[in-house]
Amino acid sequence: MNENIVTALDIGTSKVFGISALVKDTGIEVIATDIQNLSEDVIKKGRVIDIEETTNTIFSVLKNLQTKIGENIDWVSIGIGGGHLKGENYTKSISIEPSGREINDNDIQILRREIKNTLTAEKGPDKKILYTVSRQYKIDNLNITKKEPVGMHGNTLEMSVHAITVDRNPLQDIENCIKNAGAQTEWIYPHSWAAAEAVVTEEEKKVGCLLLDIGKGTTDICFFTDGVIAATDSIKIGGGLIDSDLSLILHTPLTYAEEIKKTYGYACYPTLLKEDKNNILSQQVEILSTSGKLSKNVTIGQISNIIYDRLNELFSKIKPIIMNTGEANIVGTNIVITGGSAKIKDITALSEEIFGLPSRIGIPKNLPGLETTYHQPEFSTGIGLVMLASQQVRKQKKIFPFQRVKKFFERFF
Ligand SMILES: Nc1ncnc2c1ncn2[C@@H]1O[C@H](COP(=O)(O)OP(=O)(O)OP(=O)(O)O)[C@@H](O)[C@H]1O
Ligand SMILES: [Mg+2]
Repeated sequence: MNENIVTALDIGTSKVFGISALVKDTGIEVIATDIQNLSEDVIKKGRVIDIEETTNTIFSVLKNLQTKIGENIDWVSIGIGGGHLKGENYTKSISIEPSGREINDNDIQILRREIKNTLTAEKGPDKKILYTVSRQYKIDNLNITKKEPVGMHGNTLEMSVHAITVDRNPLQDIENCIKNAGAQTEWIYPHSWAAAEAVVTEEEKKVGCLLLDIGKGTTDICFFTDGVIAATDSIKIGGGLIDSDLSLILHTPLTYAEEIKKTYGYACYPTLLKEDKNNILSQQVEILSTSGKLSKNVTIGQISNIIYDRLNELFSKIKPIIMNTGEANIVGTNIVITGGSAKIKDITALSEEIFGLPSRIGIPKNLPGLETTYHQPEFSTGIGLVMLASQQVRKQKKIFPFQRVKKFFERFF
């Protein structure tokens, strides 16, 4: 096992995307990629439905990656989303005894442990606290700092964290599939954090950024303000629901409905109407009827209206999530839309209309060794996962140089 190689798997509703990278002192280099498509009813809304098929698909992705890199893959990092994940902000304070003493690392650890214990008791055994990321510290209710206030003096210390809670059962199912495919789970990240890593800039996080990863089964969300994470969520609406809407309303087979969406559909039906683009909307296209005959005529307007309805529902569910963070100033916020469904034509126009905020499509950063075919929004999560995993390796190497080798031996002996 080469301890400088990291592998990430994005196990989505439509595909399993595997990516291996070599971690260097200066950055990472992608050394292998593989994608295997998943059929319907294998993963649904982020949850494994067919354990055997998921295991087999993960197994073949890992096998192909191993062949390409010429090494065994024992550890993989994965993402989690799909409504089994929730981010919440918590605040807790402790008194510094004796009053006015210098705050030390131990105080911060105590506070963090207390928050974790409170959350664990509150959430119950079905939930796992995945992360408690510090957002800010307050000393004596006055001094606010984002950095750990070690060395400062105070009577009280308050810590605000963003905590990520996941449902244990869906997570265990995914971990089991990975185990059955011959590997172990190394790090787990919310899908949206991974996507943000690949497509959002540090500058955007500072001024405010809402990241939407709209996939096939779910939409994963995270919101940054002032450079820190303020909200994480996941909604069980994705491009797959648009396909079933189109299939039902236009009486056309489901797989064909997806093609109709990709080829003809626009997200911003009312905007197009307003702009009097009736030449586009009134255009007739011939589609397959459920019986499989090329027979029905529908307009691009009809198709786009169905897409609009579902996206409008999705965006309307997202709006309160950022409003409820209590972050008063969202004026400078950017919206970055990624995931395969970001390719729906004019989706940014709809987002600008609904949120009233500038929106752009998130294309993953150009990593050395990554083929240009992966510079597409549906690969953001996988690419971000391998970027986050490589940061962990670099961090761990500094503290425990042989940690990953040790983990490898622990598994076999
Ligand atoms: N050109 C396109 N236009 C519109 N939609 C598209 C286009 N290309 C892909 N999609 C849609 O993107 C979705 C797949 O995106 P993605 O690969 O990000 O999903 P996933 O990661 O497998 O699913 P999830 O994250 O929801 O579990 C499908 O619904 C697909 O129809
Ligand atoms: Mg996805």
